[in-house]
Amino acid sequence: MIDTNQASIIELISRGDIQRRVTELAEEISRDFEGQELVVIGILKGSWVFLADLVRELTVPVIIDFMTVSSYGASTKSSGVVKIVTDLESPIEQRSVLLVEDILDSGLTLRYIVDNLRRRGPSSLKICAFMDKPVRRKADIRADYVGFEVPDRFVVGYGADYAERFRNLPYIGYIEEDAHGGEQG
Ligand code: IMP
Ligand code: MG
Repeated sequence: MIDTNQASIIELISRGDIQRRVTELAEEISRDFEGQELVVIGILKGSWVFLADLVRELTVPVIIDFMTVSSYGASTKSSGVVKIVTDLESPIEQRSVLLVEDILDSGLTLRYIVDNLRRRGPSSLKICAFMDKPVRRKADIRADYVGFEVPDRFVVGYGADYAERFRNLPYIGYIEEDAHGGEQG
């Protein structure tokens, strides 16, 4: 385990780079959904920082809803077991839906959520992942919008946590393991 009091965070994506990329993504999404109202669904907790920045730059009307799923707990390893802890408040039948995630890693979490939401009959369902670790993929799933591709490191900040910590970092960094061998997801 990584001792979060001792961990050093190495910056990978700066605050400025994040801001510029979020603006680009918002422009692209606004263009693609022109003339439609979008239901933006944030997967909690990881997506809230990104979602807050993204939706304020969208030029299409939006409804915002959240879903809480359990995936990793306090570990960095995917269990493959996904449970909906808190469901959406709004129906999404015949709506244009954009799912917002912090990181697409194994893809097991999103695969489960997408299958679940599709059964509710949205007119379209797109995925926006702030970060993507394509080399880690186990499930057959890809994001329609990706902020950054990141290497196979455990990253934190801008909503992404390690054991609930570091979500408030305004940049993305990875945790440097010490010489005594920390665990990685
Ligand atoms: P997946 O099911 O393996 O795709 O991962 C689902 C969730 O695990 C993501 O939405 C994140 O909340 C979390 N996760 C995966 N990789 C990382 C990471 O590097 N840092 C922090 N959280 C991660
Ligand atoms: Mg998480």
